[in-house]
Amino acid sequence: MTIPSFSVGGKVTIITGASRGIGNTLAMGFAEAGARVALVARTASALESTVEKIRSKGGTAIAIPTDVTNCKQLEEMVEKTISEFGRIDVLLNVAGGAGETWVLPPLDMPEAFYDELDGRNYKGVFFCNQAVARVMVEQKSGSIINFSSLSGTKPVVFEAVVGGLKAAVNQLTKALAAAWGPDNVRVNAIAPGITLTERVKKKLKPEFIKNISQSIPLRRPAQPEDLLGPALFLASDASSYITGMIMPADGGPQ
Ligand SMILES: NC(=O)c1ccc[n+]([C@@H]2O[C@H](COP(=O)([O-])OP(=O)(O)OC[C@H]3O[C@@H](n4cnc5c(N)ncnc54)[C@H](OP(=O)(O)O)[C@@H]3O)[C@@H](O)[C@H]2O)c1
Repeated sequence: MTIPSFSVGGKVTIITGASRGIGNTLAMGFAEAGARVALVARTASALESTVEKIRSKGGTAIAIPTDVTNCKQLEEMVEKTISEFGRIDVLLNVAGGAGETWVLPPLDMPEAFYDELDGRNYKGVFFCNQAVARVMVEQKSGSIINFSSLSGTKPVVFEAVVGGLKAAVNQLTKALAAAWGPDNVRVNAIAPGITLTERVKKKLKPEFIKNISQSIPLRRPAQPEDLLGPALFLASDASSYITGMIMPADGGPQ
């Protein structure tokens, strides 16, 4: 029997949201696992310093400062990746997030902030899929992994808008999996629960984290590193017959 490969060695991987948080951890992890990574976000300095760290450990990385809500910049992101590496095997679509909705009840949501959330959590996700899939469909191979959230299936009051957008990402993921499956392009999503990035740790009081842990079957929130295994699996050939799946990474049913 041929044992399937769980390796991402040599795979060209674009990671959006790589300047901090979960995307930054995944960028470091994929590079350490041997992937050739293109790091994407708006903050060029943070991308450059991560590229430096990866190269100092012998990894292969480039920084491509990009606003994922800008289609022209997404096209340039794809062009730069192709000109550097010649192909795209994996897209980790991590850019997104709830921002200040932690403290913003739905009745107080201003239009400008709604548009900002919509831009990075849905529009940017779709057009990034589109830009990268144009290459993958041509190649007849590729794995796209969108970042959803537990709030896409469980009602979370302070994430009412983002939760709705993440539910849309779930449905989009399934529809794109159906659209591009015939060209051997897989589209899956990872749906994390609360994950203790530096940003989240600064916002939440330890008492709140302790209380919320009681509703999680594994009795703890995720660390960003907990998301690396699921992402590596979905990126690798070991998941070659899995597409259109929304994989929970939330510590158990809640
Ligand atoms: N942390 C959690 O508890 C949690 C739970 C469930 C789901 N998630 C999901 O996991 C993903 C990562 O979350 P996180 O907590 O790591 O978020 P984060 O710390 O706020 O990081 C967000 C990342 O997205 C990038 N970004 C934001 N807007 C962008 C834009 N317009 N163009 C390009 N890049 C943009 C940011 O970089 P720049 O500002 O430099 O552009 C940053 O790298 C998100 O999709 C989030 O919804 C997180």
